[in-house]
Order: sequence, then C-alpha cells, then structure tokens
Amino acid sequence: MTIHELLSQSPVVPLVQADDPEVAVRVARALAAGGLRVAEVVFRTDRALECLTAVASEVPEMIAGAGTVLNREQAQAALDNGAQFIVSPGLDDGVVGVAQDQGVPVFPGVMTPTEAQRATNLGLDTVKFFPASIAGGVPALKALASVFRHLRFMPTGGVSPANLADFLRVPAVIACGGSWLTPASAIAAGDYDAITTLAAQAVELARDAERTT
Ligand code: 3PG
Repeated sequence: MTIHELLSQSPVVPLVQADDPEVAVRVARALAAGGLRVAEVVFRTDRALECLTAVASEVPEMIAGAGTVLNREQAQAALDNGAQFIVSPGLDDGVVGVAQDQGVPVFPGVMTPTEAQRATNLGLDTVKFFPASIAGGVPALKALASVFRHLRFMPTGGVSPANLADFLRVPAVIACGGSWLTPASAIAAGDYDAITTLAAQAVELARDAERTT
C-alpha cells in the first residue's frame, strides 16, 4: 500500500517528539492502540534520529516518517534510519530532491500560491499546508485547492479536535497533522492512555468527517 493510500485510511498524522527512544516507542504504541497508523517523528531533539530508528524498528504497526526535516543532510539521515516519508515545514529543493531521488514520499510545507506552484513544478502532488490555522485555515486552503487542482494538502499547525473535521471535509485534503495528539504534559506524566484516547477520538472525528463529506 502506498503512503497515499494509507493516509486516506488513517488521515490523521500525529507528531512524535521525544528525546528518549523508549519514550518515542511508547508514544507510537499508544497512538497505534488508538487506531492511528502513520506518525511523524520530528527532528526537534538531539536524539530525534534514534527515536525515529526505534519507532521504525520496534513499532511495526506504525508507519514512521520524519518531520521538521530542514535540509538535505537531515533528509538523507532520516531515510538511512527507516523514515518511510519526509515532512518539512517549508519547501526546500535539497530535501525534496533527496526524497525524490530515492522514491520516498515528501510533504514540504507551503503556505502561499507561489510555494504551491513551485511545489507543483518540482513534481510534487502532495504538500503540507503550514501553519494551517494562521495561514487562513479552511478558506485559504479551498482557495489554493481551486487553482492547484491536482495538488493534495496535509494541513498542519493549529489543527485540533475542534477543527479537524472541517479540514478533512475539504476534498483536496488527504490528511491532517498535529501535535495535539501527543501532549508534552501527558508524556511527562507517563500517561500514555491519554494519548490512546486522543488518537481514538481523532479516528472517530475523521470517520464522522468522511460520513458527512
Ligand atoms: C508541525 O511541525 O507540523 C507543527 O509544529 C505542528 O503544529 P501544531 O503543534 O500546531 O499541531
């Protein structure tokens, strides 16, 4: 199954941010227990690469990608350590090129028509729309989708249970990403059940959105 097919079945992509691989594994397992199949391990800690490797090798029920990938070197390191897709906050030719060369899906962040156009002309068919809520939310997304008719979007940034269904109901949206599913407070407290509950809620909201689209 391609990542695109998987995202259409599991259209919520949680961020996993940890500085301890064991914690990353527990978070990923908690998310999977709630029904999510795809997660983005973000490069925002010194041990992010180890966290990615651990999730990729120890949590087979989760498709692990790398997020917050800022440059070519990080993209290569992510791919060398088991990332099955790459997410970037912005549109960088180096990051996109490394992923494309190796046939791995890459979702760079765009926020403007110019960026969406560049992404299209780099051969991409799916981008992250970031930061979704302050870049204009659903109305901005619909405006971009109306001209970039073949582009699919993954809104991320300010997505929450309150607006998840609104984003998912936009036909051009393939999935939504976000950190609300993995609160730092729950991780610090070792409350992995809370993460499973949030994941299950997101799965339910996504099902409702699909039913009412
Ligand atoms: C990201 O890297 O995709 C964003 O930080 C996610 O934004 P959020 O924390 O508002 O979900």
